[in-house]
Amino acid sequence: MRSSLAIAIAAVACLALAAEAAGNFYQDTEMTWGGGRGKVVDGGRGLDLTLDRTSGSGFQSRSEYLFGKIDMQIKLVPGNSAGTVTTFYLSSQGSTHDEIDFEFLGNETGEPYTLHTNVFTQGQGQREQQFRLWFDPTTSFHTYSIVWNPQHVIFAVDGTPIRDFKNHEARGVAFPKSQPMRLYASLWNADDWATQGGRVKADWSHAPFVASFRGFSADACVWANGRQQCPVGTMETAAVAGRRGGRSWWNQQLSDMSYRRMRWVQRKFMIYNYCTDAKRFPQGVPAECHLR
Ligand SMILES: *[C@@H]1O[C@H](CO)[C@@H](O)[C@H](O)[C@H]1NC(C)=O
Repeated sequence: MRSSLAIAIAAVACLALAAEAAGNFYQDTEMTWGGGRGKVVDGGRGLDLTLDRTSGSGFQSRSEYLFGKIDMQIKLVPGNSAGTVTTFYLSSQGSTHDEIDFEFLGNETGEPYTLHTNVFTQGQGQREQQFRLWFDPTTSFHTYSIVWNPQHVIFAVDGTPIRDFKNHEARGVAFPKSQPMRLYASLWNADDWATQGGRVKADWSHAPFVASFRGFSADACVWANGRQQCPVGTMETAAVAGRRGGRSWWNQQLSDMSYRRMRWVQRKFMIYNYCTDAKRFPQGVPAECHLR
């Protein structure tokens, strides 16, 4: 009896720890702009950003990361979200910065959001891929993830990979691997370009617009005082991790099955791909487009 009670208590304690690891917005993030338009809610478990005619709002992670798996659950601005852009991205500082972007471009009521992704390396972007989502992102929370390890930047939506930017340094393509990045998120007015190329403006009679965040988790190597500190076991080789029956994001790559799922999403839901935009790159599309 007593031992089963002890086990039950230990299990509860573990659950509490797991919940804490899932992130507390008070502890893990700070508001960066918007003068009170961003609010931590639900005792730290959520954060709402708002946008009105005067300003949007944004927050950032307190930590900087050098590789990791970053997850965020987001519920986007419902109804008429035309002109609004919600962002969730990693970025380092400076003119040769690296950046990994999720941006959600709003739309008129009933029209689909555009999920816009991009990867900057050494200050150079122009790697946009855009998608439709296979669900309504405004009625409930969905999980958007970035797996960033020395070989891959994998974008995933509810666990389904949608994009895999690989390390092709050997072929002369820069890869983000030495500049620590912070997480940023924002909600702002981009009605000069976001919706149907700027034709459709934000309808301020519906303001304030709200985007909700929760479930922020950073299973990541934290960069502090010039040192990278990774969760225990992170850097063990795939073979060792495999023997333990697990595999850290550090070694993550797409299995055959997840590769097929990604290709399926890309075929059905991708609406723009820089790699196929020959007009934009008259000298030829970037090198990584030809590499697998
Ligand atoms: C908004 O809806 C229109 C019409 O369905 C679509 O063409 C457009 O790509 C959508 N997204 C944005 C961001 O304009």
